Amino acid sequence: MGRPKYSCHHHLPLLLPVILFLGVLWISPGYASAADEHVKDFYIIYLGDRPDNGDETIKTHISLLSSLNISREEAQERMAYSYTKALNAFAAKLSSHEAKKMMEMEEVLGVFRNQYRQLHTTKSWDFVGLPLTAKRHLKAERDVIIGVLDTGITPDSESFQDHGLGPPPAKWKGSCGPFKNFTGCNNKIIGAKYFKRDGTVPVGEILSPIDIDGHGTHTSSTVAGALVPNASLYGIANGTARGAVPSARVAMYKVCWAKSGCADMDILAGFEAAIHDGVDIISISIGGPIADYSSDSISVGSFHAVRKGILTVASAGNDGPSSGTVTNHEPWIMTVAASGIDRTFKSQIDLGNGKSLSGMGISMFDPKAKSYPLVSGVDAAKSKDDKFLARYCFSDSLDRKKVKGRVMLCRMGGGGVESTVKSYGGAGAIVVSDQYLDNAQIFMAPATTVNSSIGDAIYRYINSTRSPSAVIQKTRQVTVPAPFVASFSSRGPNPGSTRLLKPDIAAPGIDILAAFTLKRSLTGLDGDTQFSKFTILSGTSMACPHAAGVAAYVKSFHPDWSPAAIKSAIITSARPISTRVNKDAEFAYGGGQVNPRRAASPGLVYDMDDISYIQFLCGEGYNATTLAPLVGSKSVSCSSIVPGLGHDSLNYPTIQLTLRSAKASTMAVFRRTVTNVGPPSSVYKATVRAPEGVEITVEPMSLSFAKASQKRSFKVVVKAKQMSPGKIVSGLLVWRSPRHSVRSPIVIYSPSFSDNNL
Ligand SMILES: *[C@@H]1O[C@H](CO)[C@@H](O)[C@H](O)[C@H]1NC(C)=O
Ligand SMILES: *[C@@H]1O[C@H](CO)[C@@H](O)[C@H](O)[C@H]1NC(C)=O
Ligand SMILES: *[C@@H]1O[C@H](CO)[C@@H](O)[C@H](O)[C@H]1NC(C)=O
Ligand SMILES: *[C@@H]1O[C@H](CO)[C@@H](O)[C@H](O)[C@H]1NC(C)=O
Ligand SMILES: *[C@@H]1O[C@H](CO)[C@@H](O)[C@H](O)[C@H]1NC(C)=O
Ligand SMILES: *[C@@H]1O[C@H](CO)[C@@H](O)[C@H](O)[C@H]1NC(C)=O
Ligand SMILES: *[C@@H]1O[C@H](CO)[C@@H](O)[C@H](O)[C@H]1NC(C)=O
Repeated sequence: MGRPKYSCHHHLPLLLPVILFLGVLWISPGYASAADEHVKDFYIIYLGDRPDNGDETIKTHISLLSSLNISREEAQERMAYSYTKALNAFAAKLSSHEAKKMMEMEEVLGVFRNQYRQLHTTKSWDFVGLPLTAKRHLKAERDVIIGVLDTGITPDSESFQDHGLGPPPAKWKGSCGPFKNFTGCNNKIIGAKYFKRDGTVPVGEILSPIDIDGHGTHTSSTVAGALVPNASLYGIANGTARGAVPSARVAMYKVCWAKSGCADMDILAGFEAAIHDGVDIISISIGGPIADYSSDSISVGSFHAVRKGILTVASAGNDGPSSGTVTNHEPWIMTVAASGIDRTFKSQIDLGNGKSLSGMGISMFDPKAKSYPLVSGVDAAKSKDDKFLARYCFSDSLDRKKVKGRVMLCRMGGGGVESTVKSYGGAGAIVVSDQYLDNAQIFMAPATTVNSSIGDAIYRYINSTRSPSAVIQKTRQVTVPAPFVASFSSRGPNPGSTRLLKPDIAAPGIDILAAFTLKRSLTGLDGDTQFSKFTILSGTSMACPHAAGVAAYVKSFHPDWSPAAIKSAIITSARPISTRVNKDAEFAYGGGQVNPRRAASPGLVYDMDDISYIQFLCGEGYNATTLAPLVGSKSVSCSSIVPGLGHDSLNYPTIQLTLRSAKASTMAVFRRTVTNVGPPSSVYKATVRAPEGVEITVEPMSLSFAKASQKRSFKVVVKAKQMSPGKIVSGLLVWRSPRHSVRSPIVIYSPSFSDNNL
């Protein structure tokens, strides 16, 4: 997974097979095996505590690099970044041998090879209960700055107009260009920077924060886009587009680039700049190879952010529904799963026998004829030998003459089937797939996706008649039951820790309409002539900015709350999602669906400071060496820190107990402290729900508060009998007062044999 590749999170599920086919092409020549002594990769080198003088620090970095027996000039050339603002580290090109030598140096805390990570609205805000008319603290909202690490931004988009906004808040230290092809910032986009130092500039890209992909424009407008009436994708999903906090400000840190992806060293630089510039919330829809808490740039960057009081909100990943796939699972991050809203997009397929079937996806084309001849890929193969690949309608396997003017029935083999069919003069494509049918793909030609049972029915129809025919109608918006969790949304258990529930929360991430770039066609496929200022995308990439927007909304009511308090408010106020539709339960959706207005008034919060996170890491087996890149020093040892309390050493708003396989039963004591942020004088009573085979007790069962900010502690004892491997059951603790209910899921999980972290 460490190889350079680029793929937007929204397309990932649908393009997965394409990646398999094209992946090889995306390995850029500079990044061959690190085993080769002469090949130089970029490495990130973490050093000890930061001296105050930035220039001095840069000099130290150069001398340290020169000590590898290379000239100062060469050292300067090899240096990609000197990080001196939020951390003390540098990124430089090294051979693997040189990297090893660096690691042995006294001053060096850790050396990690630079890897590449991937990118992982309108109605959605009404759906989660944040209508246009919701109560707002407009003055405070205008002071909230959201830093977005993504593919760049489109300053010309209507979503980023700054009507009614004054100059940036006084605390803002960021900047904005001038950059090539970038019209500049205003009072909505108050900062823009780009980070790319690996020496490559992919075709079509330009060294500027301009967004040529659309992903960053989409996520930024979802968090904080201004109101844009009558926004739609060619009339589909029409309505007023807006972000969660339309008056908040956006700062874009472009760290992802076409083809090459998002490099660790650029991500780290993005975090550092965002922290230094003074953002309040960071939204990052990027994920990558699952790494441990101290070697992952998002983990390290977000840890430095949380120490400065900045909450990082990140996408859980698009590798579901397989279990144990959740990424960005650090306790200081808010990890977001993707859920569906009550709207989807379907196309009717009318067959020549008068039957009508329903397909998924967005096809904006009105058919010109009443019907077209229908043929399966196999029947349009060039030769007998081509039949296998022709089932998938791969271009080289098809006979152009047999495609022209016809609707093709193809199995899903990769993205862009309709592009092939169109280029051969075909009239449309019916794509048969059983994966990811809960989100709508946009097609660049008449096309729709059906599941295999419908696909088989169409195959049978083709066989049943001499001249089969079909037509694919233009897509219509359809109402569906919701919320549910997207099939592609990455699932727990947390591969980084058996004692921490991840993801934290679910937010809308299916078929989300938001701003886009006109620099790229809607599909990016060859021959696509569709361009739109708004488009519909799906992915945990889209869910993340929804949750970041809710965090900003909460922040606008409580500017002084800690990241942990904001996260707690969002998790404990979430709307439950039914376990009946999601067998993965909390491993799919964490606390449930975001509930913005209730999150602004949670009653109680589970608060934490940096020390809590270090206590947690100590409990996870981290030591002075492995903690060093996070804390910026080798001198923080777990023995010098008061151990955290209870089973997970963490004051987290959720609870996870992983059973020990050889035992008849497992018992654990969880210690928690809540802070009163509701009415000064209030009494909360505990309600507990224990699933079968599990005993849960809470002590005390009642908590009385006499003043604001008062803290009260309690313990939760969970005793669970052995369950079959892989099983997850859900318990619940709710603290209720007349005005608030503070909900904490309690998950009991029996590890499956395939959980390699156990
Ligand atoms: C330093 O580099 C020089 C010339 O490149 C070489 O002759 C010498 O052996 C190197 N010394 C060490 C300690 O690697
Ligand atoms: C940048 O601007 C130039 C000149 O207008 C244009 O030719 C080029 O395509 C632009 N590049 C990008 C990536 O937008
Ligand atoms: C709304 O948008 C649609 C499609 O873009 C357009 O045809 C229509 O004229 C617009 N209506 C208004 C009132 O602007
Ligand atoms: C969307 O467009 C349709 C057709 O033009 C119109 O009837 C409907 O009111 C629009 N919906 C919204 C929310 O603007
Ligand atoms: C295929 O889709 C149809 C219509 O949406 C549905 O009734 C059927 O259960 C689906 N079949 C499978 C195997 O998912
Ligand atoms: C359609 O007919 C072909 C051969 O004529 C056969 O291989 C295929 O299994 C049939 N498909 C269905 C769904 O009946
Ligand atoms: C710290 O932990 C790492 C990884 O678990 C281990 O390799 C190393 O030996 C430990 N160091 C000390 C000083 O215990």
